[in-house]
Amino acid sequence: MCGIVGYIGFREAWPIVIKGLKRLEYRGYDSAGIALIGESGLNIYKKAGKVVELENFAEGRDQGGSIGMGHTRWATHGAPSDRNSHPHTSNDGRLSIIHNGIIENYATIKEELEKRGHFFNSDTDTEVLIHLIEEIYKNDHNDLLEAVRLALHEVSGAYAIVVMDKANPDQLIAARKGSPMVIGVGEGEYFIASDATPIVEYTKNVIYLKDNDIAFLKRDELSIKRLDNVVQTPYIQELEMKLEMLEKGGYEHFMLKEIYEQPRSIRDCLRGRIYPNEGRVQLGGLQEYAEKFKNIDRIIIIACGTSWHAGLVGEYLIEEYARIPVEVEYASEFRYRNPIITEKDIVIAISQSGETADTMAAIEMAKEKGATIFGVCNVVGASIPRITHAGAYTHAGPEIGVASTKAFTAQVTVLTLIAFYMAQQKGTVNHSKMVELLTELDLIPEKVQQALLADAIIQEIAAKFKDSRNCLFLGRGSGFPVALEGALKLKEISYIHAEGYPAAEMKHGPIALIDEEMPVVVIATKNSSYEKVISNIQEVKARKGIVLAIVTEGDQTVKAMADYIIEIPDASEAFLPLLATIPLQLLSYHIAVLRGCNVDQPRNLAKSVTVE
Ligand code: F6R
Repeated sequence: MCGIVGYIGFREAWPIVIKGLKRLEYRGYDSAGIALIGESGLNIYKKAGKVVELENFAEGRDQGGSIGMGHTRWATHGAPSDRNSHPHTSNDGRLSIIHNGIIENYATIKEELEKRGHFFNSDTDTEVLIHLIEEIYKNDHNDLLEAVRLALHEVSGAYAIVVMDKANPDQLIAARKGSPMVIGVGEGEYFIASDATPIVEYTKNVIYLKDNDIAFLKRDELSIKRLDNVVQTPYIQELEMKLEMLEKGGYEHFMLKEIYEQPRSIRDCLRGRIYPNEGRVQLGGLQEYAEKFKNIDRIIIIACGTSWHAGLVGEYLIEEYARIPVEVEYASEFRYRNPIITEKDIVIAISQSGETADTMAAIEMAKEKGATIFGVCNVVGASIPRITHAGAYTHAGPEIGVASTKAFTAQVTVLTLIAFYMAQQKGTVNHSKMVELLTELDLIPEKVQQALLADAIIQEIAAKFKDSRNCLFLGRGSGFPVALEGALKLKEISYIHAEGYPAAEMKHGPIALIDEEMPVVVIATKNSSYEKVISNIQEVKARKGIVLAIVTEGDQTVKAMADYIIEIPDASEAFLPLLATIPLQLLSYHIAVLRGCNVDQPRNLAKSVTVE
């Protein structure tokens, strides 16, 4: 939530910062702003709306300067407006700040500062922080770095900040706690950003700041210290990200590109981890815990949103194959009750971004109670992989579309691997069955490719459903989380109200909604609950509902009773979620496009939810 970019070096800062903000726009897109120091001094441009509106607004104005910083906002304190947009400035206009996160005790600090004569131009918590820095700087110190350090001691909450001083146009100060921040290291230049995407085209050398780090950057000098003043040796890493991963590559939207990338992303996720002929799964990150799997009493999966849906698929798979009881919890609920967690528990935290605030807090709580935590994350170097004991990356590559697609299938793939890995340790699946399962899993990327061939048919079906006001998604077994995910995708990008239900639960309430205008999407593939799902379809048809069924290719029975069908390749039940999800992603995508919605940046959403 909120994206920040900074630059200090020998190039013009404006193009770097504006391009960086566009790359980070998935993190928030309700307002944007840039501050630069050039020959004419400090220039700040801020605008409610998307980055392009800021760009239009600043056109023809002074954009000169080789030091600058920018911010794209997802509003927390204060409505999206020009005045609440970042950067914010100190009372004397000398210092400016951009901030991603929340200063929780801002109200108390603000009251105190107001008593000392500060006046505020926005409703944000961020402005309070820069005034606090100003106050400390003015009164006690002549050292801005020290003033920032002392101010950060006084605030609670989360932050990634960059501070600029117009009287010192050759320095930037950056700090983080709880919100991500990467520094790109060039020759005679440095880049700062919320993630590596604005940096990758200039340098592959990056430093991921740790919580409580403060960095002091000059054009040819970087020093990092901790909040407690201990000097750090910067650890420079090489980025694996490629520039093509961040571009649309000929697709109309990132979401469509990412849907189409799934055969590759699933393959990348499997690479080097399965050995079908040997009936063996290898998960380097979990190896250390292999013995522990033999004796664990249960697994708790924590996540939010789409990642939580992946967790439900994981529950089905781990219980089915490893025979370990699994509980799947919304991280936001789990952390606020007093759950019973013991040292024997394994907690699996799933997060695409690796930054979700609720998931992070739930991890910390489970860790304190002695559980072992595994992370399943997509963004390399994010916060969650740093605070977990072990884990497995999903390797889906950067996901830019706000609605999660390839990250979901990659999460499900990793959970499938974890289930098989645990089964291997526990001996709950015999060798020949494991060979069979892994051989089939190895073919899933090709089957996903086949599932994508239904795109044209799905586009036609989307045209029939595009004006619907509601939609029900039904599934059983591992088809139920697929139904939940289908409903979430549709509602978040097309704004059609959609509900996912276990098919058998329909008659306990939602059936009342069914009439001749109600589309009902049913996961009706050939698996253990096929016959039961057929009965559910009949119940819908008896009430004149419109049925769109996702079926196994060649199925004639469901075809005869449904209004529309979409075929997917035949597969064992274990792999059904990976295939049945594909048509539902495409359906939501096409409906949203036909309704004229912004599919990559749906209203009110942000890709990385770093607030509670
Ligand atoms: C929906 C979606 C969200 C995220 C949720 C958790 O398409 O993307 O529901 O799944 O905000 O985010 P992560 O996985 O980054 O923890």
